[in-house]
Amino acid sequence: MISILFLCSDLHKMNMNSVCVSLFSKRHLEKFCNCKKFLSAKAYIFDKQFDNFPKATDFKLVEEELGPIKDGEFLTEAVYLSVDPYMRAYAPRLKTGKTFLGSQVARNTAYFGFLELCQPKKGEMVFVTGAAGAVGSLVGQIAKIKGCKVVGIAGSDEKGKWLTDELGFDHFINYKSDDLVQKIRECAPNGIDCYFDNVGGEISSKIMFNMNTFGRISVCGAISGYNENKPPKATLVQYPITMNQLRMEGFIVHRWLDRWFEGIEQNRKWIQEGKLKYRETVTHGFENMFNAFADMLKGGNIGKALVKV
Ligand SMILES: NC(=O)c1ccc[n+]([C@@H]2O[C@H](COP(=O)([O-])OP(=O)(O)OC[C@H]3O[C@@H](n4cnc5c(N)ncnc54)[C@H](OP(=O)(O)O)[C@@H]3O)[C@@H](O)[C@H]2O)c1
Repeated sequence: MISILFLCSDLHKMNMNSVCVSLFSKRHLEKFCNCKKFLSAKAYIFDKQFDNFPKATDFKLVEEELGPIKDGEFLTEAVYLSVDPYMRAYAPRLKTGKTFLGSQVARNTAYFGFLELCQPKKGEMVFVTGAAGAVGSLVGQIAKIKGCKVVGIAGSDEKGKWLTDELGFDHFINYKSDDLVQKIRECAPNGIDCYFDNVGGEISSKIMFNMNTFGRISVCGAISGYNENKPPKATLVQYPITMNQLRMEGFIVHRWLDRWFEGIEQNRKWIQEGKLKYRETVTHGFENMFNAFADMLKGGNIGKALVKV
């Protein structure tokens, strides 16, 4: 019987989520089991609830001794870890004093959240916010695969260039420097059919006011409000929802757990066929994990934000 201890990172029990883990070899394991000293591992403890934007002092980086391997446990080493907005959004629900956790679900979030809720049809106009991030960049490309026109909204011209020149988005809007209303109308003179919402707030309200009758909105996240203790105010969207008979639905990707491998398989196929490209912004070192997290929240990442342990 194989008895393996489960630990993570450098290493430990799921510090921030392990994206890529490698099982220790049998030789390592035997050495570990026979040695008297236990391995130690580093972990980020969530020490203080965030007050608006997270601070490094809200965490404690600790080193813990790992107990012996018990039956049914297994030993892993994290190679890459993920930092993502979910970690900020869920923080108010977390207890302090415990290891801070994350997740990595961008591909299936884009696949199911967009296709199931927006039900895009060939020729339709699709808008996506957070467009140069992990989820948004995939949503736009999936929309192109489905024969739609795609407009991506993100926070820098460098991101916009990547979206239009390399990923095939039809247009890009920089929400920080463009006149949003004017640009929306220029990019979508015949209105918007599908909106994949990663950011919420006023950007989303402005998009919804330009949607066509029976338009569909998939609400994936609301990062524009995650770092505020009070939710930001935005223009009422009930008016366009009613007048244009829009359908707006939120989701948590685990809704499709029973179809999880369908999403993974389809993403893999599209990547192999060259239809889906991805990019990663990699920060090196477990000790730099907070910086990677804060930088991602400020828009420093293009594509998926990762930490190489
Ligand atoms: N529902 C689910 O099951 C589920 C699962 C995974 C993720 N999500 C959500 O999906 C969204 C995207 O996640 P991701 O992992 O792909 O992150 P990401 O887009 O790779 O990174 C976050 C991005 O948000 C943008 N941002 C930050 N502040 C903003 C603001 N005030 N207004 C507009 N944009 C802002 C930044 O890009 P800019 O340079 O463009 O500002 C930043 O790069 C998040 O809202 C997340 O919570 C939901």
